[in-house]
Amino acid sequence: MLPGGLAEVLAAIDPPPGLADRVARLTTAYRSHGGAAGPVFRDDHDRLAYALVRMPATALAVAHALDAAAVPVAGSLLDLGSGTGAALWAAHARLADDAVPVAVDRDPGLLALSARLLAAVDRRIDGRRGDLTDPPAGRWELVTAAYALGELPADRLPAAVDAAWERCTGHLAVVEPGTPRGAATIAAVRARLLARGAFLRAPCPHHGPCPLAAPDWCHVAVRVPRSRLHRQLKGGTLGGETEHLSYVVATRNPAPRPAARVLTAPVRGPAGIDLVLCRNDGSAGPGRIPRRDPAHAAARRLDQGDGWDPPA
Ligand SMILES: C[S@@+](CC[C@H](N)C(=O)[O-])C[C@H]1O[C@@H](n2cnc3c(N)ncnc32)[C@H](O)[C@@H]1O
Repeated sequence: MLPGGLAEVLAAIDPPPGLADRVARLTTAYRSHGGAAGPVFRDDHDRLAYALVRMPATALAVAHALDAAAVPVAGSLLDLGSGTGAALWAAHARLADDAVPVAVDRDPGLLALSARLLAAVDRRIDGRRGDLTDPPAGRWELVTAAYALGELPADRLPAAVDAAWERCTGHLAVVEPGTPRGAATIAAVRARLLARGAFLRAPCPHHGPCPLAAPDWCHVAVRVPRSRLHRQLKGGTLGGETEHLSYVVATRNPAPRPAARVLTAPVRGPAGIDLVLCRNDGSAGPGRIPRRDPAHAAARRLDQGDGWDPPA
């Protein structure tokens, strides 16, 4: 389910003229340069098209990261590269009712659209037009940057991570597409945060070097329910599609971590459950929980991306 009533808000919007063409052009632009070449929106119809088509998946991706890290209710939120507000929607349910999140983006049209969408659920935002590498002064309990840091030139990433971390008193969540490129951005963010003394909350069960090496990369899939609009645009009657994300959530204070993280979809067979795990001893690889193992019953509920603490 989409976070915080987003599905209903998007369903109530009249699609802009030429939606399919706009989506095709935006998709091509993002595929070719991932937004790194600058703004890709020509007008407010483009912005609305992007919101209708991409927000369900990106909001669910951020919600997955916040859930996996068990981010608690926060009194304040800073969202960097806020776009149409997907991370704001994901955080909305775990934000104090009276909190007014600060949203930073270089595109004033996106700030206006995100404010309009969130007004439907009585959430005011403080939109600031600016560069995400130089956020406003202040400190926030929760800082998010979703599908945004990967748009920066690589040499600007360390300063952006430092700035985000300096503004954060609690949790910092960074989400990128679950591609090799997105995972490489997250790996660089992870390394920078560890060098700054951060504690990792998810997905990593340890603070050592990431054990995944090419052709593997750290990512997880979330199922996105297809809206009527998606079915019209993409054809077919499938009930959903998949969004792949890579992410890291760091905290200021030491936080409990699971003994392991489930890296791929568990395979349930007659002999037991086969899992690929990232473990808190710094290793990653396959393992089987035999049917007769006391942990088998609990392991049956596991999904890709879950933390795994075998029952004692
Ligand atoms: C792909 S969109 C993601 C938006 C939103 N966070 C989400 O998850 O849907 C990337 C956003 O980052 C913004 N952005 C990219 N580089 C930026 C920069 N240097 N300063 C401010 N905003 C930036 C873009 O304008 C765009 O709104």
